Amino acid sequence: MSFFITLEGVEGSGKSTQIRILREHLEARGRRVLATREPGGCPIADAIRAILLDSANRELVPRAELLLYAAARAQHVEQVIRPALAAGTIVLCDRFADATTAYQGGGRGLDAGLIAELNRVATGGLLPDLSLLFDMPVETGLERARRRNQNDTLRDEGRFEMEELDFHRRVRSAYLALAERDARFRLVDATGTPATVAARVATAVDAFLAGGGPS
Ligand code: TMP
Repeated sequence: MSFFITLEGVEGSGKSTQIRILREHLEARGRRVLATREPGGCPIADAIRAILLDSANRELVPRAELLLYAAARAQHVEQVIRPALAAGTIVLCDRFADATTAYQGGGRGLDAGLIAELNRVATGGLLPDLSLLFDMPVETGLERARRRNQNDTLRDEGRFEMEELDFHRRVRSAYLALAERDARFRLVDATGTPATVAARVATAVDAFLAGGGPS
């Protein structure tokens, strides 16, 4: 049976490590798994990602940013996520439409109604069955993310890490508000070693799958 599971959280909350461990965990149980990410996940969306995250693009205005995320998502949903779900695969996605609500809504302050409408258009109504929200203080996560970006000489993906602390605090609050509102969320304490966090993730996902999926 196919499920759509998203991983969300503030900068540096460890999602990319956790998606790899979760994928191995599920594959070891005989599940077919596709791990993907946003923005990106296919060549056209990856090209949009390069524009969105390049710290040289200081002039990108919030509405253009919003539309680019939506465009990348529309392509990714149609070309990658829906076909995989139709083939019975569990799809794990590092960020999805909730990231737009948290970053462009909470962080940038764009209109919530406009974002909800664009998310609907971009996803074609596709909603995750389960969303894991990796939560930690923004200071801790940002320090990790900035260190990673400094060590990466191949790419410059630091545009959001340059935002001030308050921006990231607003993003975190928006995520927490979403998680409070919607039963598909599980809040995961993202502090501690990768193995500790992975154990929390496995518990949440195994319980979800044992329950047959969405409640
Ligand atoms: P990543 O660092 O998890 O790969 O995510 C890329 C950046 O893009 C991260 O700073 C969050 C941001 N983002 C948004 O602002 N809106 C979105 O809809 C998505 C998917 C990501």
